[in-house]
Amino acid sequence: MSATTTTMKWVTPLLAALLVASLTQTSMAAIVVCKMDAIDGQILTGACTVGVSGAVISLVGPGAGPQLLNDSSISYTLDVNARSTLFECASEDDLLIIDSSQYSSQTLNNCDPPLLELRGCSNAILSHNTFTSITRSTAQPACTISKYGPCVAIVGAASQVADWSFSSLDNTFTSSGCASIAATSGRLGGALALVRADSGGAMSAFIQKSTFTSTQCDFGGAIHSANVSLTLQSSTFTSSLAVDGGAVNFIAASPLAVPTQTLLVDRSTFTAPTAVTTGGAIQVNGGLLTIKDSTFTNGAALNGKCVWVDICQTYTETEIVRNTWTGCATPEGPPISWCKAHDGNQWTSCGMEGPRYCY
Ligand SMILES: *[C@@H]1O[C@H](CO)[C@@H](O)[C@H](O)[C@H]1NC(C)=O
Ligand SMILES: *[C@@H]1O[C@H](CO)[C@@H](O)[C@H](O)[C@H]1NC(C)=O
Repeated sequence: MSATTTTMKWVTPLLAALLVASLTQTSMAAIVVCKMDAIDGQILTGACTVGVSGAVISLVGPGAGPQLLNDSSISYTLDVNARSTLFECASEDDLLIIDSSQYSSQTLNNCDPPLLELRGCSNAILSHNTFTSITRSTAQPACTISKYGPCVAIVGAASQVADWSFSSLDNTFTSSGCASIAATSGRLGGALALVRADSGGAMSAFIQKSTFTSTQCDFGGAIHSANVSLTLQSSTFTSSLAVDGGAVNFIAASPLAVPTQTLLVDRSTFTAPTAVTTGGAIQVNGGLLTIKDSTFTNGAALNGKCVWVDICQTYTETEIVRNTWTGCATPEGPPISWCKAHDGNQWTSCGMEGPRYCY
């Protein structure tokens, strides 16, 4: 598909509102749409367009250093591995969209950056992309090990003073992540690492209609979320693995340090998620939790086979509604918490677990 087709598809109708919102902020705001392909072990070819009728700009590198995308404040750097791209946004008004990209059969070493890293990019959108058979090897050469899994990292920057968001729409991650897992490696997110980092504004992430199959990493087999308000909607997680947070590792800072971070799980499905230590499907460390209309099946972990809640205040009974829990905690077997029928939950097994002093 040509970049022009991609742009047109986006302009109508999904992005019309965003276009208007973004363009009315300042006349300088740019919308950049990029399509990136690194298929069957081949190196990356990427191209971006700036604006609705902008010329197509092919990515150059590696070794060319940061390249500014014309008429925007967005620059990119193609790593020496010729596969990984770092996008950096200097303005909160520019909008970066990575659409219809394909990455397949790529092996990164532990020091390579992830295939895609977006730094300081407010309201970026990742849509209709596929990541298949992407691994990070266990070999640890004498270099600085990447903090992230091999696929995508979204990282905040100090230049982001306003609240900002990231959206993953209709993306597919299959057989991707860290080749083996260990807490000491500390790598985040087999598919997505979401990190507010230094941004002043609150970060929220919206994951919709995205599919994660056989993803794994040290923390957050599919998604690691740090200091972010995270919404998972109509998304599917199958056979994910991590030390903590088999599918999703949600870490929230104290509301005194960062505005209250929420985790909303809505109409999503978790099948056969495993954590070595805590939270087979989801570990929730801080923040406020809502889980509704979701299905959890056959979780495994030392603590919390399906959902583990670290901090008592995170849990409100009426926020856990209409879910189906099968093969989660054993009823009455410690540590069991919040294990009773309520609010339309179907409990063939208990779903929510946490420290005993919470209940
Ligand atoms: C982008 O800017 C560079 C440097 O000003 C120029 O040489 C190039 O032709 C521009 N490309 C496009 C697609 O406008
Ligand atoms: C989360 O926020 C806390 C408090 O500001 C901070 O200490 C911590 O480094 C942040 N974590 C990340 C991964 O940015």
